[in-house]
Amino acid sequence: MANQNDKTDVSEGQIAAHWKEEEFIFPTTGFVGQANMADPNVFERFGEDNYPECFREYADLLSWDQYWHTTLDSSNPPFFNWFVGGKLNASYNCVDRHLEKNGNKVAFTWVSEIEEEPDRVISYRELWVMVNEFAALLKDFAGVKTGDRVTLHMPMVPELPVTMLALARLGVTHSQVFGGFSGSACGDRIVDSESHILITSDAYYRSGTLLDHKSKADEAVEQAKKGGIEVKKVLVWQRYPGKSSTSTAMKNSRDYYVNDIIGKYRGHRVEPISLPADHPLFLMYTSGTTAKPKGCQHSTGGYLAYVTGTTQYYQDIRPEDVYWCMADIGWITGHSYIVYGPLSVGASSVLFEGVPNYPDPGRPWRIAERLGVNIFHTAPTTIRMLRKAGPDEPAKYDYNFKHMTTVGEPIEPEVWRWYYDVVGKGKAAVVDTYWQTETGGFIGTTLPALEPMKPGSCGPGALGIVPVILDDDGNKIEPGSGKAGNVCMSNPWPGRMQTIYGDPDRFVDTYYGKYAKKDSKKWEDWPYVTGDGGTQGEDGYIRVVGRVDDVINVAGHRLGTKELESAALTVSEIGEAAAVPAFDELKGRVPELYVSLKPGVDSSEIESLVKGAISTIIGPIARPSEVWITSDLPKTRSGKIMRRVIASISNFVDVGDVTTLANPEVVEEIKEHVQSAKFKSGNVPKDLPESMKKEIERFGED
Ligand code: PRX
Repeated sequence: MANQNDKTDVSEGQIAAHWKEEEFIFPTTGFVGQANMADPNVFERFGEDNYPECFREYADLLSWDQYWHTTLDSSNPPFFNWFVGGKLNASYNCVDRHLEKNGNKVAFTWVSEIEEEPDRVISYRELWVMVNEFAALLKDFAGVKTGDRVTLHMPMVPELPVTMLALARLGVTHSQVFGGFSGSACGDRIVDSESHILITSDAYYRSGTLLDHKSKADEAVEQAKKGGIEVKKVLVWQRYPGKSSTSTAMKNSRDYYVNDIIGKYRGHRVEPISLPADHPLFLMYTSGTTAKPKGCQHSTGGYLAYVTGTTQYYQDIRPEDVYWCMADIGWITGHSYIVYGPLSVGASSVLFEGVPNYPDPGRPWRIAERLGVNIFHTAPTTIRMLRKAGPDEPAKYDYNFKHMTTVGEPIEPEVWRWYYDVVGKGKAAVVDTYWQTETGGFIGTTLPALEPMKPGSCGPGALGIVPVILDDDGNKIEPGSGKAGNVCMSNPWPGRMQTIYGDPDRFVDTYYGKYAKKDSKKWEDWPYVTGDGGTQGEDGYIRVVGRVDDVINVAGHRLGTKELESAALTVSEIGEAAAVPAFDELKGRVPELYVSLKPGVDSSEIESLVKGAISTIIGPIARPSEVWITSDLPKTRSGKIMRRVIASISNFVDVGDVTTLANPEVVEEIKEHVQSAKFKSGNVPKDLPESMKKEIERFGED
């Protein structure tokens, strides 16, 4: 990472000062009257004086086989251990415990992307049957055991939560890879997690097309083999049970359709295994500053307690509500706030296979109207897209939201207002939830009945969490000073990841390396570093401005610049590559790739080769919007590529002083080439947000 002090001529304070403080907006009395948490005493209960015991309140929402004796063991920072001595099973908590009173309650209403297809409505009892039968198959046919890891590469079908819960029932750690990722990205994650079983699907719909998914499993197994891991069995769920929807062949003695073998396990029941609170429930891979994705390992007890508590208080799901989170279960939002949190509180949720704008941008509102959805949960990128494609659509439908969540990226106040006024019809409470794959659940947000909304700011720290903004020297930036800095959390909380799977040193270094007093055994000396830049108002509300590390947040999905660059470098003609974020009105950021070629190679196919390589190696979401071929990349005298300089060019920001570079002359040449092409295509940002300028200044070099 570059030291930003050497290269900024605008101070953080000056940048922050450009922002207008937004007015508070209060929830309706109707919302407050029905809310799960409208008792102001909750702030005292979760106050610093009651830390860490306050988190008992969340853990007490679970059913424990054995109660814990120590709420927080912080003796070996930063490996904090919650609810020590406690035993439980996540599958039991999400399914079995609801049977007695709510067996017939709807757990999921699955909605196909194809509007004419019927819904699949699954009660808690039916979910229990499916989970048990699949757990029996996993144990007997696939031979999995408590402590193993199993990789999933599944789309948005009910069989995905069934698979997760069946594995959790057996104490097997699941690692679901986002279905849109490529087979080779899945293969790398199989290797890292040392999984010998892959569970996938034959096909799924995307924008009206039935995509073959089985072919990705073959690629994943191949890739895993290169990394030294043999996948022994591939279990394939069918999009249409009993019928194959793929033309990719099944490999004998390796690939099995679940529907061909599940019949043998009809009526089988599997006892949920009672597991220690710190038993790893799942891994979720996320991008970082190196090409190798990090397997964030989440615990059973701490994680489940945290997502259950936050679902109850912040998502405000009540027994009669219909909740719909549009995220994909392949991301952390889906794990925490489609599967584990909502099922643990016994919610009725909508599960949607498709994209929000197919066949038209009225689709989400038709689903909401038809199914009576009253709690809605989505990301700024989707809100922007729906606003652009159908700004007047919501008014045409008769649905009634009481609560709406936004997650994944900073939301612009203007976009926030459309969400509030048009989608929420001025009645729904908006909850801007700030968190990360690593944090397990919300860390910055308003408690909807008790804390007013402020467009563009997520809110204060979540209950029991104390955020602090630190400057690069570790000094606290006082709330209200208008200065931006590094967003950190002062204290541990139960939802935080336990470690990076297989790499505890990287865990310590990434999240604690910057400020921790390494010799100290006190948790107070170990602030958690989010990797985000932000400011804190006098009211304690946090405004996240973007990443401070080399991560690009594309439509709410994190992509590491190194991952993009190493994928581009698989194109043999390329000598050097650098990935930078460019501002995009809908997706927030899109990646652009700058490449220089090896001498004497033909440049005509490079753009499509690079785009193709990145789509194949990572997945279509990572596909760069532009590939710029340059004679050389700007470098420091020690040979580091100055990503900040090319990011400035891509975004029409002043490149600053480049005279100290080893090759300052290329800067003008690249600028001329890139900006004239962008002018020609009309791809010039009209009004670049201050946060984007800030992100560019912080952008790394190496
Ligand atoms: O930069 C922050 C941004 O998304 C990052 C986390 O991404 P990921 O691990 O993929 O998890 C996304 C879903 C939780 C954060 O470091 N981010 C997430 N939520 C918000 C946000 N930025 C601003 N406001 C948010 N509400």
